[in-house]
Amino acid sequence: MPLDIVIGAQWGDEGKGRVVDLMSENSDIVTRYNGGDNAGHTVTVGEKIYKLHVIPSGIIHPNTIGVLGNGMVLNPQTLVEEMRMLQEVSIFVTPERLWISDAVQLITPAHRLLDGAQESNLGKVKIGTTGRGIGPAYVDKAARRGLRAGEILDPESFSSRVLAHFVEANHLLTDWYHQPGFDVDDKVKEYLDFAKQLRPFIRRIGPLVQTALNEGKTILAEGAQGTLLDLEQGTYPFVTSSCTTSAGVFSGLGLGVQPIRKVVGVTKAFQTRVGTGPFPTELDGEMANFLRGSGNNPWDEYGTTTGRPRRVGWLDLMLLKYAHEVNNFSEVFLTKLDVLSGLANIPVCVAYQRDGKIIHSLDFSGDARLLAQCTPIYETLPGWQENLRGYRNWQDLPEKAKGYVQFIEKQTSLPVQNISVGPERLERITRS
Ligand code: IMP
Repeated sequence: MPLDIVIGAQWGDEGKGRVVDLMSENSDIVTRYNGGDNAGHTVTVGEKIYKLHVIPSGIIHPNTIGVLGNGMVLNPQTLVEEMRMLQEVSIFVTPERLWISDAVQLITPAHRLLDGAQESNLGKVKIGTTGRGIGPAYVDKAARRGLRAGEILDPESFSSRVLAHFVEANHLLTDWYHQPGFDVDDKVKEYLDFAKQLRPFIRRIGPLVQTALNEGKTILAEGAQGTLLDLEQGTYPFVTSSCTTSAGVFSGLGLGVQPIRKVVGVTKAFQTRVGTGPFPTELDGEMANFLRGSGNNPWDEYGTTTGRPRRVGWLDLMLLKYAHEVNNFSEVFLTKLDVLSGLANIPVCVAYQRDGKIIHSLDFSGDARLLAQCTPIYETLPGWQENLRGYRNWQDLPEKAKGYVQFIEKQTSLPVQNISVGPERLERITRS
């Protein structure tokens, strides 16, 4: 019963899409268990670049089944548009290939408007959300008034629930947030049109996935966002609204706790973040531009979902060790090592200084302000000049690039099993 999990070890955007793409070659089912269309997974296959926000990126493989678990929030419009986009490149997402949990919570356009209104209301201390309505949809879930996919199967009751939701959201938007309202009837009609297209895909997911596991099928669970954006273990309140860590897989898919084959922690060779919140190793100026890239390439550090330039900084091993603690990684997949080529020296954060003391571990989940009070202590490693994109074997890698990888292994006590050295599927080194 092999269950594998892929987790972002940082603040999202670690390159999980390509890791999932690679691992799903040998998986029967690829699932998502958290988040919604705030995620943005880019997979490059030859000339083609796929940007997926909802459908698990494993769907690109012809025999893989995609599952959207109950821990997610789902915008029917985004899903329908994504299915159309895939159809244009001859990837047909049929109900046999995509299973949507009947308990998945639905995002509506009203959630998106409320997301924007709440952010404006926060002013300078805004979270910097993706504006996809993720937070408001999870708020409705926790408040036990959310719409669930299974309700779409009872059209009459669903339309009256959707109407009530839009009426209430419109009040909130206009009376509380003093924002322009919307035409409720138009919005309801448009929403129902998208939602009804989901009908053939809706199923009870937990038992289906469990049966597949019992039959010996390989299941891959693809975490969206990253550990440091986890609602409980992340840099609260500058986090997303779901469980992004490995523990969320079971509740987010409706499974009981059971053995896992491996948990792959994906980390870039440096650090990035979108949105507000503490970031001890953050850089600006020329070095930030170097790491971020010009923006001319799809793999440069600009958000897949929002297009915002990402904040960038040196690799923070304090945070990687913390991510290991809360996820229990089996191995690391290191991405974008090629980006560091050309630097004379590469600083890596190995400790923090706080209140005049040097600390080697920090649990900030109770108060992320602690992280904001830390100054990074760096160890400086020698850089390498070679362009790494052509390398495919560990033995051939420049010694200094190997040294960088081995330093991460030593500090985290984790094996770095895979290294990506370019955006394309094959630009990778797998160590035996
Ligand atoms: P939300 O998930 O849209 O509510 O945004 C909450 C925080 O998570 C913001 O800082 C976002 O920038 C960040 N975030 C959400 N999804 C992603 C992602 O897929 N990659 C990186 N950051 C994300």
